[in-house]
Amino acid sequence: MYMTSSNRVASLFGIRYPIIQGGMVWCSGWRLASAVSNAGGLGLLGAGSMYPDVLREHVKRCKEATDKPFGVNLPLLYAEPDEVIRIVLEEKVPIVFTSAGSPATYTALLQSHGVKVAHVVANTRFALKAVSAGVDALVAEGFEAGGHNGIEETTTMTLIPLIRQFSKLPLIAAGGIATGSQMLAAMAMGAEGVQIGTRFAVSAESSAHPAFKQAVLDSAEGDTALLLKKLVPVRLLKNPFSQAVKEAEANGADPGVLKEMLGRGRPKKGIFEGDLEQGELEIGQAAVLLNHIETVQEIFDDLIKGLSEAKNQLDRQFNYPGLAENH
Ligand SMILES: Cc1cc2nc3c(=O)[nH]c(=O)nc-3n(C[C@H](O)[C@H](O)[C@H](O)COP(=O)(O)O)c2cc1C
Repeated sequence: MYMTSSNRVASLFGIRYPIIQGGMVWCSGWRLASAVSNAGGLGLLGAGSMYPDVLREHVKRCKEATDKPFGVNLPLLYAEPDEVIRIVLEEKVPIVFTSAGSPATYTALLQSHGVKVAHVVANTRFALKAVSAGVDALVAEGFEAGGHNGIEETTTMTLIPLIRQFSKLPLIAAGGIATGSQMLAAMAMGAEGVQIGTRFAVSAESSAHPAFKQAVLDSAEGDTALLLKKLVPVRLLKNPFSQAVKEAEANGADPGVLKEMLGRGRPKKGIFEGDLEQGELEIGQAAVLLNHIETVQEIFDDLIKGLSEAKNQLDRQFNYPGLAENH
């Protein structure tokens, strides 16, 4: 199945399939991003867990590993934005996905250098801000997603049509999407592409620790929760650390106390070092749909096959006598 050039997300980024691998701290280095770009999607380097010199190294290695477009995810809350922007411009990275912060600050600057900018939002308020900042595309990330999220708990199923009510920008759906049929569903609601995190976080090319990947693959329904709403809401796999956070929150802990509990380096401890007890294990609800480690190419083959099958199956369902006459 080919996406035609009338798919605006694919043409905006110069990719074959409108499938974006979300930037992910401690998972998405050059190995994952280049594999995704080579498979026909858009790979994003996760600058949120990289010092500037490390990011530059990953950009260089990514360029060596693929001649296809790739981008950088810049979580404005954590990374050193000015340094990241300097590297992006010096290294001529063509695409930046900003998240967790104000899109107003850097969008125009990046665009003035020819960089395409997408911004990740989890609610209408931030979507409106991104629209007025003039971004080239929006990523609408629902409540199911791994990593940071909105306090409103708006699901992907609701967020996509909600944003479509006021924005005609190219729209990328994220949160809970791990299969081709889910991709088709998101596109039926008005999205023109998908951003996938969880499934790529446990791919062979992800730099996450094997113990983290296995815990995700072994997880069951209800094993993730959205926590730290008073600080920065984040969906985590439940473990002793998340349990301690939950109890503190139930006892009315204020943001200062929660910040102290979180400390520094929790995501690294959990995702990269595989500390399943005390690490922060960011992952989405879609974890329950996954049960073994796959290469990026296997994931793409399955997504495209699933998308195609789901579309055919729908066409068959709707192709019954009477439907055409009734509408
Ligand atoms: C381990 C992990 C780390 C993440 N880190 C980031 C990040 O650094 N920046 C960001 O914008 N989003 C981050 N996300 C969110 C993803 O980019 C993506 O939007 C999300 O995972 C999509 O939902 P899904 O997990 O249901 O596929 C992270 C997600 C996961 C699972």
